[in-house]
Amino acid sequence: MRRPIIAGNWKMYKTPEEAVSFVREIRDALDAIEGADAVVCPPAIAIPGVAEALAGSRVGIGAQNMHAEEQGAYTGELAPNMLTPFCQYVILGHSERRAYYCETDEAVNRKAKAALAHGLTPIICVGESLEQNEAGETQSFVSGQVRAALEGMSAEEVVRCIIAYEPIWAIGTGKAASAEEAGRIIGEAVRGTIADLYGEETAGAVRIQYGGSTNPENIGAYMAQPDIDGALVGGASLKPSFVEMVRIAAGA
Ligand code: 13P
Repeated sequence: MRRPIIAGNWKMYKTPEEAVSFVREIRDALDAIEGADAVVCPPAIAIPGVAEALAGSRVGIGAQNMHAEEQGAYTGELAPNMLTPFCQYVILGHSERRAYYCETDEAVNRKAKAALAHGLTPIICVGESLEQNEAGETQSFVSGQVRAALEGMSAEEVVRCIIAYEPIWAIGTGKAASAEEAGRIIGEAVRGTIADLYGEETAGAVRIQYGGSTNPENIGAYMAQPDIDGALVGGASLKPSFVEMVRIAAGA
């Protein structure tokens, strides 16, 4: 049985002060929910404060990006060993990072391996553009992203990864992929690709999220899909009703 996991990607929202006050507001309610993992991914500068506010809580903390090296002349970057005192997770290869910061499949693969080597759980994002979707290229593109991200990993490493399927056209648009469509692509292009590479048993152990315009109203439908194990939530993770999404996922 794969444990449901709902992660909130806060993107560049909430100051450190706002971040701390928000997690104080939702922490007890999240801790009361059995049966699902909840993760918050604040802006990097808010992470230490959030970690302090969540001390003793079961709520996980993730970064939104990371460099693969442990140190170096990389202005503006954060190393895995800088995150590990505070974080258990790191989002990698989000489509916004791929689009605005030229992050390649190869970089995502390097970062994912570095995360695993440091005991962080990578949440690896994949997903096609609207053009690719309309051209019928979704399966092949997403499958290629999954292959590239996992390149050179052992099966034992792959089961420690989380994959988030986020169709780019569904992010922040209010135009979510239908649960059936998301479930099918996740089953075929994500879990199916892992099964091709590592076998059914490994593929069956990997947790896979859907992301893109999820909210308390539609999360139940995604969770009802057998291959969807949770969500990577953007806008809706900034509000107290994020707790409701975790609660629904836990009951699914
Ligand atoms: P929204 O939930 O705001 O569409 O964002 C999804 C996302 O990009 C999460 O990483």
